[in-house]
Amino acid sequence: MAKAKTIFLCSNCGSDFPKWMGKCPVCGEWGSINEEVIHRDTTSKQLHPQFSAEKSKALLLSEVESTQEARIGTGGPELDRVLGGGLVQGSMVLLGGEPGIGKSTLVLQTAIKMTHKRILYVSGEESLQQIKMRAERIKGENPQAYFLAETSLENIFEQIIQIKPELLIIDSIQTLSTEVADSSPGSVTQVRECATALLKVAKTLGMPIILIGHINKEGSLAGPKVLEHIVDTVLLFEGDTHHFYRILRSVKNRFGSIAEIGMYEMRSDGLREVTNPSELLLSQHQDGLSGVAIAAAIEGIRPFLIETQALVSTAAYGTPQRSTTGFDLRRLNMLLAVLEKRAGFKIAQKDVFLNIAGGIRVNDPAIDLSVIAAILSSNLNLSIGNKICLAGEVGLAGEIRPVNRLEQRIMEAQKLGFEQIIVPDFAESGTDLRRFKIRIDKVRKVEESFRLLFG
Ligand code: TYD
Ligand code: MG
Repeated sequence: MAKAKTIFLCSNCGSDFPKWMGKCPVCGEWGSINEEVIHRDTTSKQLHPQFSAEKSKALLLSEVESTQEARIGTGGPELDRVLGGGLVQGSMVLLGGEPGIGKSTLVLQTAIKMTHKRILYVSGEESLQQIKMRAERIKGENPQAYFLAETSLENIFEQIIQIKPELLIIDSIQTLSTEVADSSPGSVTQVRECATALLKVAKTLGMPIILIGHINKEGSLAGPKVLEHIVDTVLLFEGDTHHFYRILRSVKNRFGSIAEIGMYEMRSDGLREVTNPSELLLSQHQDGLSGVAIAAAIEGIRPFLIETQALVSTAAYGTPQRSTTGFDLRRLNMLLAVLEKRAGFKIAQKDVFLNIAGGIRVNDPAIDLSVIAAILSSNLNLSIGNKICLAGEVGLAGEIRPVNRLEQRIMEAQKLGFEQIIVPDFAESGTDLRRFKIRIDKVRKVEESFRLLFG
């Protein structure tokens, strides 16, 4: 009979301790430590000895073969790019996102597109009928993709041995449970034990694994932080479920840059890759509206133009409302304070609403200038010409700070037929802005840009 062991686990960071404590000494969280029971004797290792890794031996770097990790293409250029050039053998990727954002759709599409590989898609959330229905919407077929509706890790291992997949997809890690732990699926122990056992399988068989993980209300991955430490790559799928655009971001990647993003559009027949991100803006832009300004933004290494929309109105109640979609609320408050203090605009008693087109979140600070331009445009009820765009970070003193990759932004604006771009007055060494045909106005202070825009 298996011997049970009691451990005390922190539900915040996943650290374990031999005794209960009020405060986790690792992450500092109070009241997060709970008792859990683990049967160490029936670990997956003993169940399936073929998954136990060989004993490793220390080597000199000169003895290590310097082969480039072989990348496995996922059939989708956007996903490949975010992964850093495709999946790495034996690596584990965690794909997180809010419910309904399209995680299952993305991995199912990947499974269907990778016709050159044998794939095992395990769903603990949906029945095989539901998966089939979804696959029919997406269209396309992979004769080597196997589907399994299962939540027991031991049974999944059984199937891995039989099918010998070249890619394993698990939807989702929170639904799995192993006999090793007593607690219910989704608990810290289960998530941790399952992920660790899966990692061992991935490394032993050289098979990549994509795990889907849920996100909690605070926007972090549900389950212990330890999950993020176990996996090699953490991808977040974000967007507004009421809009069609989705962004795939990498927040951790042992095999690539985390600056890359992928863009998708959710359609009735699945996710479509957005290869020209500026279409987010161009399909929606109308002329002559006040409160609209266009930013020349960069996410990852890709420049694109995006519309920022603001609505400023007199506060109906005592406390003015501030609300944003796709933009940090604290940053908006900071920009409003700059406008008030440095540029003398009275907006403290006004409601301010701010939207980024397409419902996507843009992290690039260079959209600041367009945000404040949109706010002023709405406040003054004066529109900004639709052939003008802006790029610049705004500092606390009302100064326009330099932005990275300025030339790329200008190039994108010119390519899309813009006639004027307002940029910070800082010459990066080696840049020659004279080669552009578009009119480039350099500004040092927010007031200068307002003079250019509104006279
Ligand atoms: P889903 O992949 O189930 O999201 P998650 O796994 O992240 O919870 O997708 C959820 C939404 O996507 C669902 O509300 C329906 C929509 N959808 C489409 O619009 N088109 C499609 O082709 C598919 C498959 C889903
Ligand atoms: Mg799902």
